[in-house]
Amino acid sequence: MRIALGADHAGVALKHDITRLLTARGLACTDVGTMTADPVDYPVFAARVAEAVASGACDRGILICGTGIGMAIAANKVSGIRAAAAYDETTARLCRAHNDANVLTLGARLTDAATAARLVDIFLATPFDAGRHARRVAMIAAMTCAAALT
Ligand code: RB5
Repeated sequence: MRIALGADHAGVALKHDITRLLTARGLACTDVGTMTADPVDYPVFAARVAEAVASGACDRGILICGTGIGMAIAANKVSGIRAAAAYDETTARLCRAHNDANVLTLGARLTDAATAARLVDIFLATPFDAGRHARRVAMIAAMTCAAALT
């Protein structure tokens, strides 16, 4: 599985932790930045990860900012992206099982590193339940319009 990871200054340290963890497990990681704690604008990195997933270059995305909220709002502007902010094991599991989320967003100011690693594991391991949920996800896709930063 190929994973695209991105973060702003609030999430960069956690992004590096998670990238190290996934790389050590043999997963192919594409880190789109940011690479330092200098202040940056999170939509830039949300767009990079969203494009990597929407284009098929990566299978899943992980985005980290202070709350996970800005990253989710921005990534969901890109056609084909279903980004979900998760804060506990239940939301990490259900965003996959019910919503077929292809991007997980995390809040580094709200979620500690050990919990974040657990949420990433659940996000990557949980299959989509399909069934009645597939119809609803298809309805969301029909609402989506193309929009991305360049
Ligand atoms: C940056 O201070 C902060 O606003 C950002 O990381 C994120 O939490 C936005 O949703």
